[in-house]
Amino acid sequence: MPRLTVEGFPPVEVESGKRLVLAIEEDAGVDILHACGGNARCTTCRVEFISGEPERMTVAERTVLAAKGVTGVRLSCQSLCDHDMTVRAISRLTGSGRPDAGPKPAPVITPPPEY
Ligand code: FES
Repeated sequence: MPRLTVEGFPPVEVESGKRLVLAIEEDAGVDILHACGGNARCTTCRVEFISGEPERMTVAERTVLAAKGVTGVRLSCQSLCDHDMTVRAISRLTGSGRPDAGPKPAPVITPPPEY
């Protein structure tokens, strides 16, 4: 099982292939935002990779990051935790002023991933 480390939190073992946004929220217990429900629209699920950044990027992720002019981050809703990785959760409910983290993302990447 891959090991996920969110900076500042204890490392956890994650079911291989789990959607990263859900692994951060459910396994690591970190209050990451997912305002669009994991659909590659809001970019609030963004993380910085310290190690283990996935090589593949979905077309949806590439498109929304480019449209918003965002660099140096990845969308956790568009990545799978299928190997050891360490991330920095830079977009959390705590301190955001939002009432909640957003709709629960589906267990699989949405929209259906194209690479
Ligand atoms: S882009 Fe909205 S939750 Fe990932």
